[in-house]
Amino acid sequence: MKRTGGAEAAKRAAGRAAAAEVSDGDLVGLGTGSTAAHAIRRLGERVADGLDVEGVATSHQSRALAREVEIPLVPLSDVDRVDIDVDGADQVHADADANALVKGGGAAHAREKVVAAAADRLLVVADDSKLSATLDHPIPVELLPDALARVERAVREAGGDPTLRTADRKDGPVVTDNGNLVLDCEFGAVEEPAALSAALSGVAGVVEHGLFVDMADELLVGDADGDVVRREP
Ligand code: A5P
Repeated sequence: MKRTGGAEAAKRAAGRAAAAEVSDGDLVGLGTGSTAAHAIRRLGERVADGLDVEGVATSHQSRALAREVEIPLVPLSDVDRVDIDVDGADQVHADADANALVKGGGAAHAREKVVAAAADRLLVVADDSKLSATLDHPIPVELLPDALARVERAVREAGGDPTLRTADRKDGPVVTDNGNLVLDCEFGAVEEPAALSAALSGVAGVVEHGLFVDMADELLVGDADGDVVRREP
């Protein structure tokens, strides 16, 4: 798994608090990453205690973990709506007027966005290191491999500096769960996330990008003491 910053106790507290929000009968989006993993593990404990839910995975990682903790799964391809989705973030805009996140540090943002868009309620779980006064994390862009040169050019024309994400234990690029490539695109401080989101979505060959604008319903932020603050995204 990739490593992001933040205390493990903070991630655990946020993840477990979100799992407590799930009710009998829910179809639950199972996010990807180290914070969402805590929610999945806690949900597995609740299922073992009799909670009656089904999950939909956002990645190979979350599917494998859900199987391990015996959460019944339905395939994403069969799902057009989800009751509640619990997912992490790489950066959250701390400004209460801007509902904007960056996701995709684990290259799972395409399926994560499909599930988030289908969800009645998206709970974003994060440790407090993810809150930022400016949205300046590089934006992951998943793209069709054959569109690499074209998308790199379009990102530069939009004011970004793209870097092809490379794998740690494989020569060459990261290949996503969907068989695509990822560009990490440095845009500096993003002043207008909705406009950048629309611009990136409009580039031919882009499968999905990691800007999530006006999607989150609630933010659960954990700290190293294990306390969780709930806030509007
Ligand atoms: C996966 O691609 C990402 O969107 C994750 O949800 C995000 O990177 C958060 O991960 P952590 O909870 O491990 O920080």
